[in-house]
Amino acid sequence: MEITTVGVVGLGTMGAGIAEVCARHGYQVLAIEPDADSLERGRGSISRSTERAVTRGKLTDTEREEVLSRISFSTQLEDLASVDLVVEAIPEDLDTKRELFGQLDKITPPHAILASNTSSLSVTEIAVATSRPARVAGLHFFNPAPVQAFVEVVRTVVTDPSVVDDLVAMARSLGKEPVVIGDRAGFIANALLFGYLNQAVSMYEANYASREDIDAAMRMGCGYPMGPLALLDLIGLDTAYQILDTMYRQSRDRLHAPAPILKQMVTAGLKGRKTGRGFYAYAAPNSPEIVDDGSAAGAESNVEPRPVQSVGVVGSGTMATGIAEVLAKGGFDVTLVARSESSLTRALGALDKSLEKAVQRGKLEAADRDGIRARVSGASSLESLAQVDLVVEAVVEEISVKTALFENLDEICKPGAILATTTSSLPVVELAAVTSRPQDVVGLHFFNPAPVMRLVEVVRTVSTSPVTLATAVDVTQRAGRHPVVCGDRAGFIVNALLFPYLNDAVGMLEANYASADDIDLAMKKGCGYPMGPFELLDVVGLDVSLAIQQTLYREFREPGFAPAPRLEHLVTAGYLGRKTGRGFRAYE
Ligand SMILES: NC(=O)c1ccc[n+]([C@@H]2O[C@H](COP(=O)([O-])OP(=O)(O)OC[C@H]3O[C@@H](n4cnc5c(N)ncnc54)[C@H](O)[C@@H]3O)[C@@H](O)[C@H]2O)c1
Repeated sequence: MEITTVGVVGLGTMGAGIAEVCARHGYQVLAIEPDADSLERGRGSISRSTERAVTRGKLTDTEREEVLSRISFSTQLEDLASVDLVVEAIPEDLDTKRELFGQLDKITPPHAILASNTSSLSVTEIAVATSRPARVAGLHFFNPAPVQAFVEVVRTVVTDPSVVDDLVAMARSLGKEPVVIGDRAGFIANALLFGYLNQAVSMYEANYASREDIDAAMRMGCGYPMGPLALLDLIGLDTAYQILDTMYRQSRDRLHAPAPILKQMVTAGLKGRKTGRGFYAYAAPNSPEIVDDGSAAGAESNVEPRPVQSVGVVGSGTMATGIAEVLAKGGFDVTLVARSESSLTRALGALDKSLEKAVQRGKLEAADRDGIRARVSGASSLESLAQVDLVVEAVVEEISVKTALFENLDEICKPGAILATTTSSLPVVELAAVTSRPQDVVGLHFFNPAPVMRLVEVVRTVSTSPVTLATAVDVTQRAGRHPVVCGDRAGFIVNALLFPYLNDAVGMLEANYASADDIDLAMKKGCGYPMGPFELLDVVGLDVSLAIQQTLYREFREPGFAPAPRLEHLVTAGYLGRKTGRGFRAYE
C-alpha cells in the first residue's frame, strides 16, 4: 500500500518529532491536539526544532518552509477522514489510547493503518478496541524522533503481514532501521533500558552518588550519549513512570517497580524538561539548558586536600602501567613497584611503548614524553614507598593478595600517606580494616585503558575521612581525570548499572524474543550506545562479565540480578568472547 498522508495524534515530546520526521521525508502530515493551546505548543515545538536544524546546517531555509507547509494542524479528529496511516502519540495510558483508537476506527478510511507509538502498553489490547485489529500495529520511535535512526514495528498475533510490510517500508523511507518484534511490554529497547534507568534513580534516591556523578559515570564509563537521569528528564518522568509501571505489571520483577521518588516528582510537577524541572533544573519548560539550582554535587570540595607530589603504583599489569602513565602525565613523581626485576622491566617497557604510541599519534610531544618518563622510577621492593604521599594498588584481583599488600604498605608508608586500591569488585573497607589507618584508605577505580578513559570512581568507605576523599578527588583531577564519588558497594556506579542490563539482554535472547543482531541494533540506534550488549559482552569477556554479575547478585540478593543461564553455559563451554574466538558470536 502506498502511504502518502499521515495523521499524528498528540504533539508532545514524541508526536511533534514524529510529525516533523514524516514531513521531512515528504509525507503530508495532519497533526492533532485536543485543544487550541496544546496545538499551539505542538506547533511551536516543531517550529523550534526545524529552526535548530537550519542553524545546524541540516536543513536549508527553503527546505524548512517546505517541511512546515506539509504539516497541517487541527483540533478535530474528524480531519483524519482521508489519511493512510495514523501514528498515535498521546500519553501512556491504556484506557485513553483504547478510547482514541475506537474513535479513529470510525473516522479513518477502512484501508488506513492505525499505529501506536506506545512504549510499553499492549498493542493487542489497543487493537481489539477497533473493528480492524488486523490493521493495528505498534510503530515505536525513539526520542528524539528526528535523530534516533531506529524504529520498532510491533506486530500482534492478529496484525496482517502486509501491514507489517507497509510499516517497515514506511520506516525505511524515513531513514530509520526498523526491527519487527512481538507484543511484549517494553519491546526490545525499553525492556533493556528502563531497568537500568530505574536502578539509576534508586542510586540517586539512596544518596549513593550525586546526580552529576551518576550521569558522568555512565557517559564517560560507557560512552552513552546521556546519563540516565538527564535521559529520564528528556523522556519525561510521567511517561517513564507509566512505562515502568506497565513493565512491572507484566514482569513482576522488582527492578521494574518504579523507584518511589519518581512518583513523588511527578506528583510535584517535576516531570523533566517539559516542565522545566526534573532531576535537573532547566532554563524554561522544554529547554535543554541545565541551570544551577544550588544542589549540584561537590560537598567534598569544602575540605582542603592534603598536598600530594610523590605517588607509588603497585603492580605490573595493564592497569598499573596505565595508572603510572596517567599520574606521571599529571606531574606527579611516580614510583612503580613490581614483584620482581623481570616484571618491572616488562611494566616499564609497556609504559615506554604506550608513550611512544602517543608521540606517533601526535598526542604527545617528544620532549613531554621525556619529561613524563623521567618522573617515573621503578622498584621491586615496597620499601621504596616509605616516603610517598599516596599509593595506588593495582595487583591481581584476589582479596588475600590485596590484604597482605595493605598490611605491608601500612607498615612501610609514612603516617598520613593515603592508600588507594583500584579494585573493581572487592570491598574497599576490607582492605582498610587490615591497616592501622582506615581513615586514609580509599578506592580509585580507573577504567581500562587508563590513559584513554577519563573516568575514575572515587570510592569512600564508612571509615574514609573527608580529607582523604578530598585528596583523592584532587589527585584525580590534577591527573586530568574526571572523578565521581560513590560508596563502597559491589559494582560502584558503572558496573552496577551496566552489567544487569547486559544480563537482561542475555535473558531476552534466551527467551527467543529477539536475535542478538536485532538487540544490538536496538541499543545502538535506539539509544545511541557505542556498542550493542552482545558486542560488548564479547569484548569484555564472558567470564569477567559473569563474575561481576555474580558479585552483584551476592551483594544485592536481587532475584533479577541472577546471572542468565545462557551466560553461565557459554562460560562453561569455554566460549569467553573475542579472546577465545567465540562468545555470542564467532570471530575469525
Ligand atoms: N517520551 C519518550 O521518550 C517516548 C519515546 C518513545 C515512545 N513514547 C511514547 O509516546 C507516547 C507519547 O509520549 P510523550 O512522551 O510524547 O508524551 P507527552 O506527554 O509529551 O505528549 C502527549 C501529548 O498528547 C496530547 N494529548 C493528550 N490526549 C490527547 C488526545 N486524546 N488526542 C490528541 N492529543 C492528546 C497532549 O496534549 C500532549 O501534547 C506514549 O505512548 C509514550 O509511551 C515516549
